[in-house]
Amino acid sequence: MIPVITIDGPSGSGKGTLANRLAEKLGWHFLDSGALYRVLAFSAQESGIKLDDIERLVEHALVMPIHFASAIGQESTHVFLGEKEITTAIRTEICGNAASQVAQYSPVRQALIDKQRDFMKAPGLVADGRDMGTVIFPDAALKIYLEASPIARAQRRLNQLHAAGLDANLESLLVEIEARDLRDKNRSASPLKPAEDALVVDTTNMSAQQVVDRIWDLVAQTFGVA
Ligand code: DC
Repeated sequence: MIPVITIDGPSGSGKGTLANRLAEKLGWHFLDSGALYRVLAFSAQESGIKLDDIERLVEHALVMPIHFASAIGQESTHVFLGEKEITTAIRTEICGNAASQVAQYSPVRQALIDKQRDFMKAPGLVADGRDMGTVIFPDAALKIYLEASPIARAQRRLNQLHAAGLDANLESLLVEIEARDLRDKNRSASPLKPAEDALVVDTTNMSAQQVVDRIWDLVAQTFGVA
C-alpha cells in the first residue's frame, strides 16, 4: 500500500504550502490537483473552447499535453503545456476562477481522475485539492482539511501573487475568493467539504510554520517517521 496524505480546503487556507512542505520533509511525491483544473481552463481557452462546453472540455482534458516538472520533495513545480511553460500564467485569479467554472462539471472531473491517481507512486504522495480525501483518495491514511477566514485567505493570496510578480488588490481578491468558495462548495459534483474522517484545522491565526509543526506530529504518529 502506497501511503497518501490528503490536504483539502479553500483557496488561501494554506494547503499548498503545507502539502509542499510535507512532501519535501517526507521525500514523497506532490500532487497540486488545482493546477490540473487551471491548465485545463487555460488550455481550453487558448483553443477557443468555451468554459461551459462540457463535451469539448472533456475531449480536451483527455488529450492536453500537460506535464509537471518537479523532482521528488522539491518545493516548486513547473507546469508545461507541450513545450510551453505556463507555471506563472495559470496562477492569476482569472485563471483560478476559470478553473472553478470548468471544475463544476462531473464529466470534466471524471476525465481528470486517472491523471490525479497516476501521482500515487512509492514512496508516498501528498495530494492538495478540494476532493482529495472525499473522492480521489478515499483510502488515504491521513486526511487534513484546512480552513481560514476569507479576509485572512485574501491577504495570503495577495502576498503570494505579489511574490510571483503578479498584480492584485485585497478588496477584489476578497470578492473573487468568496464567489469561488460559493461555487466550489455548492456544486453537485464533488463539492468542497471535509471528508468525514478528516481533521479540520482553522489556520486563520497560525503561521505556515505553525501549521506544518502541528500536522507533522500527526504525520509522525500515523506513518512512524521521526
Ligand atoms: O487550488 P486552486 O486555487 O489552484 O484551484 C483552482 C480551482 O480548481 C478551484 O477553485 C476549484 C478547482 N479544483 C477542484 O474543483 N478540485 C480540486 N481537487 C482542485 C481544484
